[in-house]
Amino acid sequence: MKRRSLLGLGALGLLGGWALRPSDHGQPHTPYFAALNQLLKRDSAGLPLLVVDLERLDQNAELLTSQLGTQLPLRLAAKSLAATGLLEYLAKKLGTQRFMVFHQPQINQLALNFPQADLLLGKPLPVAAALSFYQQLPSGSSFNPATQLTWLIDSQARLQEYAALASALGQPLQVAFEIDIGMARGGFATPADLGAAMTWLGTTANLLRVRGLMGYDAHIAHTPLWMDQERAFALSAERYRAFISTAASFRELWPQQPLLNGAGSLTYTLHTRFNTPLNEVAAGSALLKPSDFDSEQLSAQQAALWIASPVLKALPGQLPFLEESYQMLQRWNPNREKTYYLYGGQWPATPVSPAGLSYDSLYGRSANQERLTGSAGTGLQVDDWVFLRPQRSEGLLELFNQLYLLRNGRLVGSWSANRA
Ligand SMILES: Cc1ncc(COP(=O)(O)O)c(C=O)c1O
Repeated sequence: MKRRSLLGLGALGLLGGWALRPSDHGQPHTPYFAALNQLLKRDSAGLPLLVVDLERLDQNAELLTSQLGTQLPLRLAAKSLAATGLLEYLAKKLGTQRFMVFHQPQINQLALNFPQADLLLGKPLPVAAALSFYQQLPSGSSFNPATQLTWLIDSQARLQEYAALASALGQPLQVAFEIDIGMARGGFATPADLGAAMTWLGTTANLLRVRGLMGYDAHIAHTPLWMDQERAFALSAERYRAFISTAASFRELWPQQPLLNGAGSLTYTLHTRFNTPLNEVAAGSALLKPSDFDSEQLSAQQAALWIASPVLKALPGQLPFLEESYQMLQRWNPNREKTYYLYGGQWPATPVSPAGLSYDSLYGRSANQERLTGSAGTGLQVDDWVFLRPQRSEGLLELFNQLYLLRNGRLVGSWSANRA
């Protein structure tokens, strides 16, 4: 090829590259976050923190109440709302004392703080963890585990271990059976397996009391393209009913009013719309709506939880060893014009305000000083605050000491986050 045509091609390539240049996404804080930015600049201790918007939380709670109506009582999934103050607030607002709990220390905390609570395990715990609960329960506690706590049993082997625990403790234990209704996360796989375990239970002297079933169905929220969601729901409901009819055939073991738990934030609305075998649903995350819960089912709920972190450094931006090429990259991509370092980082969260900030994939993440890039259009300065939206609330609250409460544009208090 001639030199001139080569040059022409090169120029075309450059023009093409320039045409593909990303647009500038940088925007200053929206009025909501601009007000929060001012508030935190004035009133905070300058540390990264979690903010709960109480007005949005209230609206989410009211929505949940109206969606569930009176047919389906709610059990709060404690792991997604792991602060006693938050759980107290929601239990009162939603009129429930039912909690689903997933971690032994949390069972003890709930037993202490909610002496009227009905606690159901959301996963089967090693029998040693169950024993720790009884050892750590203060004597004279008004919480009575024999009637207020239900352990989850996923296999006959675990059933036998819990029967041995009950006789070692010399006290009755309530149990519910985890059943697999299509999620493939364990539990009794078939009604026949459950029947075998219940047969063993019925023929052995023991102190276990059957409370009911728990069948979680989060898989329905992720149906593949070839599967209709309503059909997936009907199939899992049918499996649930098959377990009920086997369990109910053990008339000496099965209670008059069994507990039939299921669902979660991503699926509870399906149980309000279609014919459900459940008599209660569990939900937690829907109330704070972190981004993993952006779904059609929860389209009316609003994000109510933010991570806020102060900007420590606002710099022109540079990459070690690549100074000149980085400047070219910055000219090409206006969203690399500035580099910001935050106080803390590596949270499971996405920067949301000011708009146009992103993690720097070329530099990497940091739990100490998170690096973000963005254009000057963000208007960010040192000591401004950046707001991130968590992907999930589970496991997050425990990373912060406090949850700060926002109402009517003011910080009105805080709740201590539970220990992990
Ligand atoms: C057994 C069980 N039920 C319900 C839930 C729902 O919790 P959330 O509403 O916070 O998603 C979960 C979440 O993992 C779960 O494991």
